[in-house]
Amino acid sequence: MKRKAFLRNVGLGVAGLGLSASALQALPPSPLKFEEPNKSPTNEAFWKLVASEFARPDGIAVNLENGYFSHAPKGVLQAHIEAQIRINQETSLFMRGEQQEEIEKARRAFASFQGIDPEQLAFTRNTTEALNIVIMGYPWKAGDEVILGDQDYGSMVEAFEQVSRRHGVILHYAQVPMHPKNAQQTASAYLDLMTPKTKMLHLTHLINLSGQLIDGESIAKMAKERNSDIFTVLDAAHSIAHHTQTLQEMPHCDAVCGSLHKWLCNPLGVGFLHLKPAAIPLLWPLMGDVQQPETNIRRFEHQGTRPINSLMSLSSAIAFHEALGSQAKKDRLVYLKRCIVGNVDVLGENFDKNQHALLFDLTSLPHLNINCPWQNPEQGGALINISINSMSPSELAAELKDLGIFTVAIDHAVVKGVRITPHLSNTLEDCLALNRALLSVYNQHFQPLHKMFDD
Ligand SMILES: Cc1ncc(COP(=O)(O)O)c(C=O)c1O
Repeated sequence: MKRKAFLRNVGLGVAGLGLSASALQALPPSPLKFEEPNKSPTNEAFWKLVASEFARPDGIAVNLENGYFSHAPKGVLQAHIEAQIRINQETSLFMRGEQQEEIEKARRAFASFQGIDPEQLAFTRNTTEALNIVIMGYPWKAGDEVILGDQDYGSMVEAFEQVSRRHGVILHYAQVPMHPKNAQQTASAYLDLMTPKTKMLHLTHLINLSGQLIDGESIAKMAKERNSDIFTVLDAAHSIAHHTQTLQEMPHCDAVCGSLHKWLCNPLGVGFLHLKPAAIPLLWPLMGDVQQPETNIRRFEHQGTRPINSLMSLSSAIAFHEALGSQAKKDRLVYLKRCIVGNVDVLGENFDKNQHALLFDLTSLPHLNINCPWQNPEQGGALINISINSMSPSELAAELKDLGIFTVAIDHAVVKGVRITPHLSNTLEDCLALNRALLSVYNQHFQPLHKMFDD
């Protein structure tokens, strides 16, 4: 039955769910199409249309903390809600009858999007779960060694520390340079720690604290050239559907894990575990499974009853991403980041000259620091981390919030500052507002030598 007719029949539709008027208006009348041929990052009319597909939050003027997870576009949210209505009506008729085929449909869709074999893809709830399957499921022996990064995600570090306590595994932390001179310097930070006892190399593709993207595939390749038995794991929570690299382009990573509620803009609740064939029988599932053959990736999906509607919206999320195009999306995200920084030399000649006068070059402020290699699009995407000397990260985040801009304070042993994450839901004006707000906060703490605007 067609979805709309189904909704009419059940007498519900989205309106029947008691959603607020603003949420109702947020839902689109027809499937989304972005047929604009000019998707260059500076085509504001086009990107405003894209931004209008996302509902903005009440209570804060500008949300620039979209790194936790993203709003889903209206059409994707609609697919999610419709699937929920269907599951709620059919209950176990759906679960016992159609659930598995819906999971398989989502598996085929995501595998095809990423250019991999669906038999190498398991769905999890998020990156944390996917990486825990790898970290907890590896057949550890006392004395085995692991290399991880000093800026890896906290939950992953905890998982390794638990494995260390439980199995006597030894952890070595690579000191990842914040402003690497070249890719080899970052690679060496990891590879120099390899010993004959190293069993696993854990790499964070896009570091959530700072926004730095490291070339995980190349580092994994170099590690395997030194020791073909090393198990290489990539935490791709922030890179999938953000950076243009696909899973197909990561042949030297034995396991790649990610979350689809971040940059793919799918609703909450879906992550993935991509395993190379040899890794499937090697790892123990986190949740006991003895029924599936050891070579079947589905042995890692023994999750119990869960919200399948988050998998049923996946095709819509992929369609939304593909309608924009990976490169155009990435270019726009990098552009928004650069507008926040305001350095016109790096923005390049394509930058709209009318906006020029509105930007202040934050790189000219001696007490303001940008804690990542923000100039090079190969070393990051939308995320950026900024600090101001003599201000703690939480003070800076609080002052920005007072000015109506939401960011997140990062007070980590290695990285300190506010993390700023523009997404497709943001406009150029949002980024200009942050540029001005950072200057205003700066001027309150230092001599206001820097005149804001020419007015
Ligand atoms: C680098 C990195 N890894 C893993 C995670 C965990 O993602 P999730 O909470 O979706 O499991 C995050 C979350 O922000 C992250 O930034």
